[in-house]
Amino acid sequence: MQSKIIGTGAFVPGGVLTNKTLEKMVVTSDEWIVSRTGIKERRRTTNSEASSDLAYYAAQRALKNAGVRPDKIDLVITATATPDMLLPSTACIVQGRLGMRNIPAFDLNAVCSGFIYGLAAADAFIRSGAYKTVLLIGVDTITKFTNYKDRSTCIIFGDGAGAVVLQAARGKKGILGSRLYADGTKWDYIHVPGGGSRIPSYAAGPPDYYMIMKGHDTFRVAVRGLEQAIIALLRQARISMRDIDIIIPHQANIRIIEALAMKLHYPMEKIFVNIDKYGNTSAASIPIALHEAVAAKRIRDNDLILFAAFGSGLTWGASLVKW
Ligand code: UT7
Repeated sequence: MQSKIIGTGAFVPGGVLTNKTLEKMVVTSDEWIVSRTGIKERRRTTNSEASSDLAYYAAQRALKNAGVRPDKIDLVITATATPDMLLPSTACIVQGRLGMRNIPAFDLNAVCSGFIYGLAAADAFIRSGAYKTVLLIGVDTITKFTNYKDRSTCIIFGDGAGAVVLQAARGKKGILGSRLYADGTKWDYIHVPGGGSRIPSYAAGPPDYYMIMKGHDTFRVAVRGLEQAIIALLRQARISMRDIDIIIPHQANIRIIEALAMKLHYPMEKIFVNIDKYGNTSAASIPIALHEAVAAKRIRDNDLILFAAFGSGLTWGASLVKW
């Protein structure tokens, strides 16, 4: 039994934050941001929009494209590091809003690697026979926790949601394997100090509300980690890099993607990139890119797709899908 992706969906908020606008907020330039990150603009939620709103619309679209009614879903997993609130889970809020009743729903937090972790979890539930049809959402609203006075982070992140419907299927198509990793000794590389049990929101001061990132250190570990995960996964699946039809990587920085392509001797033309439009949308970046790749007909029947992500935790991983 395999878990097959039978529908994709995506949703980004309407608010566009361009590099030109950022030039008015911090000491930076469009030229610096484009050349160092590949980002031209990103989307930003308004005060009245939360993660579950984006997740809801992305999920609705994935369900429609899959041709699956909400009452046919057996489990909802929401990969997010930016839930609507500490409790309940954003997955429960979305499950209720979609009209799904009496099915389990939970959040999973692996930050930017959330979709890869979620895919592995959904696949395990389906393969075990516990659930047949799973809705997996990757959503983040990192801009809510971004300090727009910190030029090293505010230029990178954007908001968005992507979703897939997975279903048990016989045959050779579906998720072929995943490799997941974490290094918790580097938890401080990317973190938001306040709002949890260490510094509860009532005790937090302004610096605690925002994300802090050791960008340069993260960059170096990211390239190494992604390469390690991909090589281990291909070895496990007995597949060569030449067999991969498309790579859909986490969109963190175009230079990370280019460095990875060089290390793997893989052509950039076969790597899907949309970082210019959305920046780094954390757990949403791979499912949004997947949805756009499908819509643009960059993915054909029987294609081998490689997903790879890296993020706070530190976490990283890769998964292989036969379409
Ligand atoms: O989502 C997964 C996890 N996150 C990541 O994967 C992020 C990985 N890291 C990165 O993408 C990059 O490290 C950044 C884009 C964050 C920064 O780029 P960098 O090339 O690593 O720059 P840097 O931090 O080494 O800084 C180089 C210079 C510094 O100036 P000095 O000290 O050399 O004079 C910075 O102050 O660039 C300066 N700088 C900027 N200049 C203009 C940093 N940010 C900016 C900016 N505009 N926005």
